[in-house]
Amino acid sequence: MTRRVALGLLAGIPVLLLVLASLDALRETGVVGLPVVPWQTLWGLPLDRWLRDIAATLALGCVVVGGLLAPRPDPRLLRGASLAALVWLAALLAQIPLTVSELLGRPWADSLDPIIVTSLLAQTQLGQLLVAQIAIVGLVAVLGWAVLGRVTGAVVLALAMTAAMLPALAGHSGLHAGHTAASVSLAVHLVSVGVWVGGLIAVCAYVVAPGRRPSDAVTTLRRFSVLALVCVLLLAESGLLNASLRVDGVGTLMTTPYGTLILAKSVVLCALVVLGWRQRRYAVPEAADATGHRLLLRFAAFEVLLMGIAIGLAVALSRTAPPAGAIAGDRITTGSLTLLALALPLVLVWAGARPSSGRSDGRAPWFARITAAYPEPFAVIVVVAAFAAPLIVASAALPIGLATLLAGVVLLLAGWAFAIAATGPRGVPAIVLVMVLWVPALWWTTVGEPVETWLQVGVAVLAGEACLALLLVVRARRNRPRTAEPAPDPVAAA
Ligand code: HEM
Repeated sequence: MTRRVALGLLAGIPVLLLVLASLDALRETGVVGLPVVPWQTLWGLPLDRWLRDIAATLALGCVVVGGLLAPRPDPRLLRGASLAALVWLAALLAQIPLTVSELLGRPWADSLDPIIVTSLLAQTQLGQLLVAQIAIVGLVAVLGWAVLGRVTGAVVLALAMTAAMLPALAGHSGLHAGHTAASVSLAVHLVSVGVWVGGLIAVCAYVVAPGRRPSDAVTTLRRFSVLALVCVLLLAESGLLNASLRVDGVGTLMTTPYGTLILAKSVVLCALVVLGWRQRRYAVPEAADATGHRLLLRFAAFEVLLMGIAIGLAVALSRTAPPAGAIAGDRITTGSLTLLALALPLVLVWAGARPSSGRSDGRAPWFARITAAYPEPFAVIVVVAAFAAPLIVASAALPIGLATLLAGVVLLLAGWAFAIAATGPRGVPAIVLVMVLWVPALWWTTVGEPVETWLQVGVAVLAGEACLALLLVVRARRNRPRTAEPAPDPVAAA
Protein backbone atom coordinates (compact mmCIF):
# COMPACT_ATOMS: atom_id res chain seq x y z
CA MET A 1 0.00 0.00 0.00
CA THR A 2 2.83 2.39 0.85
CA ARG A 3 4.38 1.63 -2.54
CA ARG A 4 1.25 3.05 -4.17
CA VAL A 5 1.62 6.21 -2.07
CA ALA A 6 5.28 6.57 -3.14
CA LEU A 7 4.28 6.27 -6.81
CA GLY A 8 2.84 9.81 -6.51
CA LEU A 9 6.45 11.06 -6.72
CA LEU A 10 6.42 10.02 -10.40
CA ALA A 11 4.07 12.96 -11.08
CA GLY A 12 7.24 15.06 -11.13
CA ILE A 13 8.48 13.51 -14.39
CA PRO A 14 5.72 14.76 -16.73
CA VAL A 15 5.73 18.12 -14.92
CA LEU A 16 9.51 18.44 -15.34
CA LEU A 17 9.51 17.43 -19.02
CA LEU A 18 6.50 19.60 -19.87
CA VAL A 19 8.03 22.68 -18.24
CA LEU A 20 11.44 22.13 -19.86
CA ALA A 21 9.87 21.44 -23.28
CA SER A 22 7.77 24.62 -22.99
CA LEU A 23 10.96 26.56 -22.19
CA ASP A 24 12.62 24.98 -25.23
CA ALA A 25 15.27 23.43 -22.98
CA LEU A 26 15.08 19.90 -24.43
CA ARG A 27 16.02 20.78 -28.02
CA GLU A 28 19.55 21.11 -29.39
CA THR A 29 20.31 24.73 -30.24
CA GLY A 30 23.35 25.94 -32.14
CA VAL A 31 24.70 29.20 -30.73
CA VAL A 32 27.80 30.36 -32.63
CA GLY A 33 30.90 29.86 -30.46
CA LEU A 34 29.18 27.57 -27.94
CA PRO A 35 29.25 23.73 -27.95
CA VAL A 36 26.01 22.08 -29.08
CA VAL A 37 24.69 19.96 -26.22
CA PRO A 38 23.19 16.73 -27.65
CA TRP A 39 19.49 16.15 -27.04
CA GLN A 40 20.18 12.93 -25.13
CA THR A 41 22.05 15.00 -22.52
CA LEU A 42 19.38 17.70 -22.46
CA TRP A 43 16.84 15.00 -21.53
CA GLY A 44 19.18 12.82 -19.49
CA LEU A 45 20.62 15.42 -17.12
CA PRO A 46 17.32 16.71 -15.65
CA LEU A 47 15.94 13.17 -15.41
CA ASP A 48 19.13 12.05 -13.66
CA ARG A 49 18.89 15.01 -11.30
CA TRP A 50 15.27 14.14 -10.56
CA LEU A 51 16.31 10.56 -9.77
CA ARG A 52 19.12 11.86 -7.54
CA ASP A 53 16.72 14.12 -5.61
CA ILE A 54 14.11 11.38 -5.18
CA ALA A 55 16.65 8.77 -4.06
CA ALA A 56 18.28 11.23 -1.64
CA THR A 57 14.87 12.09 -0.25
CA LEU A 58 13.92 8.44 0.30
CA ALA A 59 17.30 7.62 1.88
CA LEU A 60 17.07 10.56 4.29
CA GLY A 61 13.44 9.81 5.20
CA CYS A 62 14.12 6.12 5.89
CA VAL A 63 17.13 6.90 8.11
CA VAL A 64 15.26 9.59 10.07
CA VAL A 65 12.21 7.42 10.74
CA GLY A 66 13.91 4.01 11.00
CA GLY A 67 17.02 5.14 12.88
CA LEU A 68 15.82 8.01 15.08
CA LEU A 69 12.04 8.48 15.39
CA ALA A 70 10.95 4.87 15.86
CA PRO A 71 11.11 3.69 19.49
CA ARG A 72 13.59 1.00 18.34
CA PRO A 73 15.73 1.09 15.12
CA ASP A 74 13.73 -0.51 12.32
CA PRO A 75 15.95 -2.82 10.20
CA ARG A 76 13.43 -2.88 7.33
CA LEU A 77 13.49 0.90 6.89
CA LEU A 78 17.27 1.03 7.27
CA ARG A 79 17.64 -1.56 4.51
CA GLY A 80 15.30 0.71 2.49
CA ALA A 81 17.69 3.60 3.17
CA SER A 82 20.60 1.49 1.88
CA LEU A 83 18.76 0.60 -1.32
CA ALA A 84 17.77 4.24 -1.88
CA ALA A 85 21.41 5.23 -1.31
CA LEU A 86 22.48 2.73 -4.00
CA VAL A 87 20.08 4.39 -6.49
CA TRP A 88 21.39 7.78 -5.35
CA LEU A 89 24.94 6.52 -6.02
CA ALA A 90 23.98 5.33 -9.51
CA ALA A 91 22.43 8.73 -10.29
CA LEU A 92 25.61 10.49 -9.13
CA LEU A 93 27.80 8.22 -11.28
CA ALA A 94 25.57 8.86 -14.32
CA GLN A 95 25.92 12.59 -13.63
CA ILE A 96 29.66 12.44 -14.48
CA PRO A 97 29.42 11.67 -18.25
CA LEU A 98 26.26 13.78 -18.53
CA THR A 99 28.09 16.78 -17.03
CA VAL A 100 31.08 16.29 -19.35
CA SER A 101 28.69 16.03 -22.26
CA GLU A 102 26.92 19.26 -21.25
CA LEU A 103 30.10 21.22 -20.59
CA LEU A 104 31.92 20.14 -23.77
CA GLY A 105 28.97 19.47 -26.08
CA ARG A 106 30.07 15.85 -26.67
CA PRO A 107 27.78 12.89 -27.28
CA TRP A 108 26.95 11.11 -24.02
CA ALA A 109 28.67 7.88 -25.09
CA ASP A 110 31.96 9.71 -25.87
CA SER A 111 32.03 11.50 -22.53
CA LEU A 112 33.76 8.77 -20.58
CA ASP A 113 37.25 9.67 -21.80
CA PRO A 114 39.40 8.91 -18.68
CA ILE A 115 41.59 12.02 -19.12
CA ILE A 116 38.60 14.39 -19.35
CA VAL A 117 36.72 12.66 -16.53
CA THR A 118 39.78 12.75 -14.26
CA SER A 119 40.34 16.45 -14.88
CA LEU A 120 36.65 17.19 -14.25
CA LEU A 121 36.67 15.30 -10.96
CA ALA A 122 40.07 16.49 -9.75
CA GLN A 123 40.31 20.06 -11.00
CA THR A 124 36.83 21.57 -10.86
CA GLN A 125 34.75 22.40 -7.77
CA LEU A 126 31.76 20.63 -9.35
CA GLY A 127 33.83 17.46 -9.81
CA GLN A 128 35.27 17.56 -6.29
CA LEU A 129 31.77 17.92 -4.84
CA LEU A 130 30.62 14.95 -6.91
CA VAL A 131 33.50 12.81 -5.62
CA ALA A 132 32.72 13.78 -2.02
CA GLN A 133 29.03 12.95 -2.54
CA ILE A 134 29.83 9.60 -4.15
CA ALA A 135 32.10 8.64 -1.23
CA ILE A 136 29.59 9.68 1.46
CA VAL A 137 26.57 8.11 -0.26
CA GLY A 138 28.58 4.89 -0.67
CA LEU A 139 29.14 4.92 3.11
CA VAL A 140 25.41 5.47 3.74
CA ALA A 141 24.60 2.49 1.49
CA VAL A 142 26.96 0.25 3.47
CA LEU A 143 26.28 1.57 6.99
CA GLY A 144 22.48 1.51 6.58
CA TRP A 145 22.72 -2.26 7.12
CA ALA A 146 24.76 -1.81 10.30
CA VAL A 147 22.59 0.56 12.35
CA LEU A 148 22.17 -0.98 15.79
CA GLY A 149 20.98 1.91 17.96
CA ARG A 150 20.41 5.63 18.25
CA VAL A 151 24.11 6.54 17.98
CA THR A 152 24.77 4.61 14.76
CA GLY A 153 21.43 5.91 13.42
CA ALA A 154 22.56 9.48 14.12
CA VAL A 155 25.92 8.87 12.39
CA VAL A 156 24.26 7.53 9.21
CA LEU A 157 21.78 10.41 9.30
CA ALA A 158 24.59 12.97 9.60
CA LEU A 159 26.31 11.39 6.59
CA ALA A 160 23.12 11.34 4.50
CA MET A 161 22.40 14.98 5.39
CA THR A 162 25.93 16.04 4.43
CA ALA A 163 25.62 14.31 1.05
CA ALA A 164 22.18 15.87 0.46
CA MET A 165 23.56 19.35 1.23
CA LEU A 166 26.60 19.20 -1.07
CA PRO A 167 24.80 20.05 -4.37
CA ALA A 168 23.89 23.40 -2.76
CA LEU A 169 27.54 24.45 -3.09
CA ALA A 170 27.38 24.04 -6.88
CA GLY A 171 24.77 25.08 -9.46
CA HIS A 172 22.98 28.43 -9.34
CA SER A 173 23.79 29.01 -5.65
CA GLY A 174 27.49 28.44 -6.19
CA LEU A 175 27.49 31.01 -8.97
CA HIS A 176 25.64 33.67 -7.04
CA ALA A 177 27.27 36.82 -5.67
CA GLY A 178 25.57 36.31 -2.26
CA HIS A 179 27.32 32.92 -2.30
CA THR A 180 27.16 31.99 1.40
CA ALA A 181 23.51 32.94 1.96
CA ALA A 182 22.49 31.22 -1.28
CA SER A 183 24.43 28.04 -0.51
CA VAL A 184 23.38 27.76 3.15
CA SER A 185 19.71 28.43 2.38
CA LEU A 186 19.67 25.86 -0.44
CA ALA A 187 21.43 23.32 1.80
CA VAL A 188 18.76 23.80 4.50
CA HIS A 189 16.07 23.61 1.78
CA LEU A 190 17.38 20.31 0.42
CA VAL A 191 17.65 18.64 3.84
CA SER A 192 14.16 19.82 4.87
CA VAL A 193 12.70 18.46 1.61
CA GLY A 194 14.40 15.11 2.18
CA VAL A 195 13.33 14.69 5.79
CA TRP A 196 9.76 15.84 5.11
CA VAL A 197 8.98 14.04 1.83
CA GLY A 198 11.02 10.89 2.44
CA GLY A 199 9.99 10.87 6.10
CA LEU A 200 6.30 10.90 5.19
CA ILE A 201 6.68 7.86 2.93
CA ALA A 202 8.87 6.08 5.51
CA VAL A 203 6.49 6.79 8.39
CA CYS A 204 3.58 5.36 6.35
CA ALA A 205 5.61 2.20 5.67
CA TYR A 206 6.48 1.96 9.38
CA VAL A 207 2.96 2.51 10.69
CA VAL A 208 1.18 0.03 8.39
CA ALA A 209 3.86 -2.70 8.60
CA PRO A 210 2.25 -6.03 9.61
CA GLY A 211 2.63 -6.82 13.31
CA ARG A 212 3.49 -3.24 14.27
CA ARG A 213 2.54 -2.43 17.87
CA PRO A 214 -0.14 0.33 17.86
CA SER A 215 1.72 2.26 20.60
CA ASP A 216 4.94 2.30 18.50
CA ALA A 217 2.99 3.41 15.43
CA VAL A 218 1.29 6.29 17.26
CA THR A 219 4.52 7.43 18.98
CA THR A 220 6.47 7.47 15.70
CA LEU A 221 3.70 9.26 13.83
CA ARG A 222 3.38 11.92 16.51
CA ARG A 223 7.14 12.51 16.54
CA PHE A 224 7.17 12.74 12.75
CA SER A 225 4.24 15.15 12.78
CA VAL A 226 6.25 17.61 14.93
CA LEU A 227 9.36 17.16 12.79
CA ALA A 228 7.32 17.70 9.59
CA LEU A 229 6.05 21.01 10.94
CA VAL A 230 9.62 22.17 11.61
CA CYS A 231 10.67 21.01 8.11
CA VAL A 232 7.86 22.92 6.41
CA LEU A 233 8.82 26.12 8.21
CA LEU A 234 12.51 25.67 7.33
CA LEU A 235 11.67 24.71 3.75
CA ALA A 236 9.46 27.74 3.15
CA GLU A 237 11.87 30.16 4.81
CA SER A 238 14.98 28.82 3.05
CA GLY A 239 13.19 28.56 -0.32
CA LEU A 240 11.92 32.14 -0.10
CA LEU A 241 15.31 33.45 1.06
CA ASN A 242 17.07 31.64 -1.78
CA ALA A 243 14.51 32.89 -4.29
CA SER A 244 14.81 36.47 -3.03
CA LEU A 245 18.54 36.37 -3.85
CA ARG A 246 17.79 35.63 -7.51
CA VAL A 247 14.49 37.39 -8.17
CA ASP A 248 14.38 41.14 -7.63
CA GLY A 249 10.80 41.76 -6.56
CA VAL A 250 7.27 41.00 -7.68
CA GLY A 251 7.97 42.22 -11.23
CA THR A 252 10.46 39.46 -12.00
CA LEU A 253 8.30 36.94 -10.17
CA MET A 254 5.42 37.51 -12.59
CA THR A 255 7.19 38.30 -15.86
CA THR A 256 9.87 35.59 -16.13
CA PRO A 257 9.76 31.78 -16.37
CA TYR A 258 12.06 31.46 -13.31
CA GLY A 259 9.76 33.69 -11.23
CA THR A 260 6.68 31.84 -12.45
CA LEU A 261 8.19 28.51 -11.37
CA ILE A 262 8.84 29.94 -7.89
CA LEU A 263 5.26 31.17 -7.76
CA ALA A 264 4.05 27.69 -8.79
CA LYS A 265 6.14 26.05 -6.04
CA SER A 266 4.75 28.48 -3.48
CA VAL A 267 1.17 27.61 -4.51
CA VAL A 268 1.93 23.87 -4.23
CA LEU A 269 3.47 24.48 -0.81
CA CYS A 270 0.30 26.32 0.34
CA ALA A 271 -1.80 23.31 -0.76
CA LEU A 272 0.60 20.98 1.09
CA VAL A 273 0.29 23.03 4.26
CA VAL A 274 -3.52 22.73 4.12
CA LEU A 275 -3.32 18.96 3.57
CA GLY A 276 -0.71 18.54 6.30
CA TRP A 277 -2.85 20.46 8.76
CA ARG A 278 -5.86 18.25 8.01
CA GLN A 279 -3.74 15.14 8.29
CA ARG A 280 -2.53 16.27 11.73
CA ARG A 281 -6.10 16.91 12.79
CA TYR A 282 -7.83 13.79 11.43
CA ALA A 283 -5.32 11.06 10.64
CA VAL A 284 -2.63 11.32 13.35
CA PRO A 285 -4.95 10.73 16.35
CA GLU A 286 -6.56 7.72 14.58
CA ALA A 287 -3.39 5.93 13.51
CA ALA A 288 -3.66 2.95 15.88
CA ASP A 289 -6.07 0.75 13.90
CA ALA A 290 -6.73 -0.39 10.32
CA THR A 291 -9.30 2.37 9.62
CA GLY A 292 -6.79 4.93 10.84
CA HIS A 293 -4.12 3.42 8.57
CA ARG A 294 -6.39 3.76 5.54
CA LEU A 295 -7.07 7.39 6.42
CA LEU A 296 -3.36 8.08 6.88
CA LEU A 297 -2.50 6.54 3.50
CA ARG A 298 -5.30 8.44 1.80
CA PHE A 299 -3.98 11.77 3.05
CA ALA A 300 -0.38 10.76 2.36
CA ALA A 301 -1.24 9.76 -1.25
CA PHE A 302 -2.49 13.30 -1.98
CA GLU A 303 0.46 14.88 -0.20
CA VAL A 304 3.08 12.77 -1.99
CA LEU A 305 1.46 13.56 -5.36
CA LEU A 306 1.78 17.29 -4.65
CA MET A 307 5.32 16.80 -3.33
CA GLY A 308 6.18 14.95 -6.58
CA ILE A 309 4.88 17.91 -8.58
CA ALA A 310 6.92 20.31 -6.41
CA ILE A 311 10.10 18.28 -6.96
CA GLY A 312 9.46 18.20 -10.75
CA LEU A 313 9.08 22.00 -10.66
CA ALA A 314 12.24 22.28 -8.52
CA VAL A 315 14.42 20.38 -10.97
CA ALA A 316 12.98 22.45 -13.85
CA LEU A 317 13.81 25.56 -11.78
CA SER A 318 17.40 24.45 -11.32
CA ARG A 319 17.70 24.05 -15.14
CA THR A 320 16.25 27.52 -15.82
CA ALA A 321 18.43 30.63 -15.96
CA PRO A 322 17.77 33.06 -13.07
CA PRO A 323 16.36 36.32 -14.52
CA ALA A 324 18.23 39.56 -14.97
CA GLY A 325 15.37 41.70 -13.59
CA ALA A 326 12.06 43.13 -14.79
CA ILE A 327 11.97 46.24 -16.96
CA ALA A 328 9.14 48.53 -18.11
CA GLY A 329 7.11 46.97 -20.91
CA ASP A 330 7.67 43.36 -19.76
CA ARG A 331 4.61 41.14 -20.05
CA ILE A 332 3.00 39.00 -17.40
CA THR A 333 3.49 35.27 -18.08
CA THR A 334 0.41 33.15 -18.77
CA GLY A 335 1.59 30.84 -15.98
CA SER A 336 1.50 33.65 -13.37
CA LEU A 337 -1.95 34.68 -14.60
CA THR A 338 -3.25 31.17 -14.07
CA LEU A 339 -1.56 30.74 -10.70
CA LEU A 340 -2.86 34.03 -9.28
CA ALA A 341 -6.36 34.03 -10.75
CA LEU A 342 -7.21 30.33 -10.44
CA ALA A 343 -4.72 28.13 -8.58
CA LEU A 344 -4.10 30.20 -5.43
CA PRO A 345 -7.81 31.13 -5.00
CA LEU A 346 -8.64 27.41 -5.39
CA VAL A 347 -6.25 26.58 -2.53
CA LEU A 348 -7.71 29.41 -0.43
CA VAL A 349 -11.34 28.29 -0.73
CA TRP A 350 -10.33 24.67 -0.29
CA ALA A 351 -8.62 25.71 2.95
CA GLY A 352 -11.94 27.24 4.02
CA ALA A 353 -10.90 30.91 3.61
CA ARG A 354 -14.24 32.66 3.02
CA PRO A 355 -16.02 35.62 4.64
CA SER A 356 -17.56 34.69 7.97
CA SER A 357 -20.38 36.59 9.58
CA GLY A 358 -19.84 35.67 13.20
CA ARG A 359 -23.60 36.24 13.54
CA SER A 360 -25.53 34.40 16.18
CA ASP A 361 -28.42 33.59 13.77
CA GLY A 362 -25.98 31.60 11.58
CA ARG A 363 -26.94 33.60 8.44
CA ALA A 364 -24.18 33.92 5.84
CA PRO A 365 -22.68 37.43 5.39
CA TRP A 366 -23.95 39.61 2.50
CA PHE A 367 -20.89 38.90 0.33
CA ALA A 368 -21.30 35.12 0.60
CA ARG A 369 -25.04 35.45 -0.14
CA ILE A 370 -24.45 37.58 -3.26
CA THR A 371 -21.70 35.31 -4.61
CA ALA A 372 -23.83 32.21 -3.98
CA ALA A 373 -26.92 33.76 -5.65
CA TYR A 374 -25.19 35.35 -8.68
CA PRO A 375 -22.01 33.39 -9.51
CA GLU A 376 -21.97 34.27 -13.25
CA PRO A 377 -20.98 37.96 -12.82
CA PHE A 378 -18.01 36.81 -10.74
CA ALA A 379 -16.99 34.46 -13.56
CA VAL A 380 -17.06 37.43 -15.93
CA ILE A 381 -15.05 39.52 -13.43
CA VAL A 382 -12.23 36.95 -13.21
CA VAL A 383 -12.01 36.74 -17.02
CA VAL A 384 -12.02 40.56 -17.32
CA ALA A 385 -9.23 40.67 -14.71
CA ALA A 386 -7.27 38.17 -16.83
CA PHE A 387 -7.68 40.48 -19.86
CA ALA A 388 -6.85 43.61 -17.82
CA ALA A 389 -3.78 42.33 -15.90
CA PRO A 390 -1.47 42.17 -18.98
CA LEU A 391 -2.48 45.75 -19.86
CA ILE A 392 -1.74 46.97 -16.31
CA VAL A 393 1.68 45.23 -16.29
CA ALA A 394 2.72 46.40 -19.77
CA SER A 395 1.49 49.99 -19.29
CA ALA A 396 4.28 52.50 -18.88
CA ALA A 397 2.12 54.61 -16.51
CA LEU A 398 3.39 52.84 -13.39
CA PRO A 399 6.84 51.49 -12.42
CA ILE A 400 7.00 47.79 -13.30
CA GLY A 401 7.15 46.63 -9.64
CA LEU A 402 4.04 48.61 -8.70
CA ALA A 403 2.19 47.61 -11.89
CA THR A 404 2.79 43.88 -11.31
CA LEU A 405 1.83 44.19 -7.64
CA LEU A 406 -1.43 45.91 -8.61
CA ALA A 407 -2.16 43.33 -11.32
CA GLY A 408 -1.40 40.51 -8.85
CA VAL A 409 -3.77 41.89 -6.21
CA VAL A 410 -6.54 42.43 -8.81
CA LEU A 411 -6.15 38.87 -10.12
CA LEU A 412 -6.08 37.35 -6.63
CA LEU A 413 -9.17 39.24 -5.38
CA ALA A 414 -11.15 38.54 -8.56
CA GLY A 415 -10.10 34.88 -8.45
CA TRP A 416 -10.98 34.50 -4.78
CA ALA A 417 -14.45 36.06 -5.23
CA PHE A 418 -15.02 33.76 -8.24
CA ALA A 419 -13.86 30.68 -6.31
CA ILE A 420 -16.26 31.47 -3.44
CA ALA A 421 -19.12 31.99 -5.93
CA ALA A 422 -18.21 28.84 -7.85
CA THR A 423 -18.25 26.59 -4.78
CA GLY A 424 -21.82 27.67 -3.94
CA PRO A 425 -24.91 25.68 -4.93
CA ARG A 426 -25.27 27.41 -8.36
CA GLY A 427 -21.60 27.40 -9.27
CA VAL A 428 -21.42 24.96 -12.22
CA PRO A 429 -22.45 27.36 -15.06
CA ALA A 430 -19.96 29.95 -13.75
CA ILE A 431 -17.13 27.40 -13.80
CA VAL A 432 -18.07 26.25 -17.31
CA LEU A 433 -18.13 29.89 -18.46
CA VAL A 434 -14.57 30.47 -17.22
CA MET A 435 -13.46 27.12 -18.71
CA VAL A 436 -14.60 28.37 -22.13
CA LEU A 437 -13.29 31.93 -21.80
CA TRP A 438 -9.91 30.98 -20.28
CA VAL A 439 -8.44 30.07 -23.69
CA PRO A 440 -9.09 33.48 -25.34
CA ALA A 441 -8.06 35.23 -22.12
CA LEU A 442 -4.60 33.63 -22.22
CA TRP A 443 -4.32 33.94 -26.00
CA TRP A 444 -4.90 37.70 -25.54
CA THR A 445 -1.72 38.04 -23.46
CA THR A 446 0.34 36.85 -26.45
CA VAL A 447 -1.24 39.21 -28.99
CA GLY A 448 1.05 41.89 -30.40
CA GLU A 449 4.23 40.89 -28.65
CA PRO A 450 4.45 37.14 -28.16
CA VAL A 451 7.12 36.46 -25.55
CA GLU A 452 6.10 32.92 -24.73
CA THR A 453 6.13 29.79 -26.86
CA TRP A 454 2.81 28.20 -27.84
CA LEU A 455 3.67 25.30 -25.58
CA GLN A 456 4.07 27.65 -22.60
CA VAL A 457 0.63 29.13 -23.27
CA GLY A 458 -0.74 25.62 -23.78
CA VAL A 459 0.67 24.45 -20.42
CA ALA A 460 -0.88 27.49 -18.69
CA VAL A 461 -4.26 26.84 -20.37
CA LEU A 462 -4.08 23.20 -19.32
CA ALA A 463 -3.17 24.14 -15.73
CA GLY A 464 -6.09 26.62 -15.65
CA GLU A 465 -8.56 24.02 -16.92
CA ALA A 466 -7.22 21.53 -14.33
CA CYS A 467 -7.79 24.09 -11.54
CA LEU A 468 -11.35 24.67 -12.75
CA ALA A 469 -12.00 20.92 -12.87
CA LEU A 470 -10.70 20.66 -9.28
CA LEU A 471 -13.00 23.52 -8.31
CA LEU A 472 -15.89 21.39 -9.61
CA VAL A 473 -14.72 18.53 -7.36
CA VAL A 474 -14.35 20.76 -4.27
CA ARG A 475 -17.78 22.25 -5.00
CA ALA A 476 -19.45 18.86 -5.42
CA ARG A 477 -18.01 17.60 -2.13
CA ARG A 478 -18.87 20.76 -0.26
CA ASN A 479 -22.51 20.64 -1.41
CA ARG A 480 -22.94 16.89 -0.88
CA PRO A 481 -25.86 16.25 1.47
CA ARG A 482 -24.52 14.94 4.79
CA THR A 483 -26.60 12.04 5.99
CA ALA A 484 -24.30 10.14 8.31
CA GLU A 485 -21.30 11.16 10.45
CA PRO A 486 -19.03 12.94 7.93
CA ALA A 487 -15.98 10.87 7.00
CA PRO A 488 -12.84 13.02 6.91
CA ASP A 489 -11.81 13.43 3.29
CA PRO A 490 -8.53 15.00 2.15
CA VAL A 491 -10.35 16.94 -0.59
CA ALA A 492 -13.54 17.85 1.24
CA ALA A 493 -13.85 21.34 2.67
CA ALA A 494 -12.97 21.97 6.30
C1 HEM B 1 7.83 28.65 -0.86
C2 HEM B 1 8.04 27.60 -1.63
C3 HEM B 1 9.37 27.29 -2.29
C4 HEM B 1 10.32 28.15 -2.79
C5 HEM B 1 10.26 29.67 -2.83
C6 HEM B 1 11.41 27.34 -3.31
C7 HEM B 1 12.56 27.84 -3.91
C8 HEM B 1 13.61 27.09 -4.39
C9 HEM B 1 14.78 27.62 -5.04
C10 HEM B 1 15.03 29.10 -5.32
C11 HEM B 1 15.58 26.57 -5.38
C12 HEM B 1 16.93 26.66 -6.09
C13 HEM B 1 16.74 26.38 -7.59
C14 HEM B 1 18.00 26.72 -8.40
O1 HEM B 1 19.04 26.03 -8.23
O2 HEM B 1 17.91 27.67 -9.20
C15 HEM B 1 14.91 25.36 -4.94
C16 HEM B 1 15.41 24.08 -5.11
C17 HEM B 1 14.73 22.95 -4.74
N1 HEM B 1 13.48 22.87 -4.15
FE1 HEM B 1 12.32 24.43 -3.58
N2 HEM B 1 11.11 26.01 -3.10
C18 HEM B 1 9.88 25.94 -2.49
C19 HEM B 1 9.18 24.80 -2.14
C20 HEM B 1 9.63 23.52 -2.38
C21 HEM B 1 8.87 22.32 -2.11
C22 HEM B 1 7.44 22.29 -1.54
C23 HEM B 1 9.66 21.26 -2.48
C24 HEM B 1 9.37 19.79 -2.43
C25 HEM B 1 8.48 19.20 -1.70
C26 HEM B 1 10.91 21.80 -3.00
C27 HEM B 1 11.98 21.04 -3.46
C28 HEM B 1 13.16 21.55 -3.97
C29 HEM B 1 14.25 20.72 -4.47
C30 HEM B 1 14.30 19.18 -4.48
C31 HEM B 1 15.23 21.60 -4.96
C32 HEM B 1 16.57 21.21 -5.61
C33 HEM B 1 16.38 20.98 -7.10
C34 HEM B 1 17.66 20.54 -7.78
O3 HEM B 1 18.64 21.34 -7.78
O4 HEM B 1 17.70 19.41 -8.30
N3 HEM B 1 10.85 23.18 -2.91
N4 HEM B 1 13.71 25.70 -4.34
